[in-house]
Amino acid sequence: MKLVEFKENSDERGSLVSLEGNNNIPFEIKRVYYIYGVNEKSPRGFHAHKELKQVIIALSGSVTLTIDDGQKKESVVLDSPNKGILIDTICWREMHDFTQDCVLLVLASGIYDRDDYINDYVEFKNIVKI
Ligand code: TYD
Repeated sequence: MKLVEFKENSDERGSLVSLEGNNNIPFEIKRVYYIYGVNEKSPRGFHAHKELKQVIIALSGSVTLTIDDGQKKESVVLDSPNKGILIDTICWREMHDFTQDCVLLVLASGIYDRDDYINDYVEFKNIVKI
């Protein structure tokens, strides 16, 4: 996982962050989705993707992201709209400890494809071993 910091265009009116595919987002953006109205006690994720890359941004509130690339497992608290986490292909992700006000923006390099998911952790570990 990689932390990406976005340039804030801030003045007395507030702040603006611009996201551009193949620029500060290191892939062409094919899909955008957002997660909100979360239950603090309900973690999400628990899968990896074969081809998909994603950038996750907490537009409001915070969440703990845990990313496992098969070699190491890292956790980071995502709590600022000017920071994103780049998740590369074949990384197991878990999202825990959502605050109630959390709104997560996700930018993805591909459209929704169930076949791109690896939902089984043992299968994930076997794939990264190869
Ligand atoms: P899910 O994969 O369970 O979310 P998370 O990664 O946060 O654990 O997705 C929740 C539901 O939304 C599931 O029924 C699939 C659907 N979905 C789409 O229809 N399109 C999408 O782009 C995504 C990410 C999910």
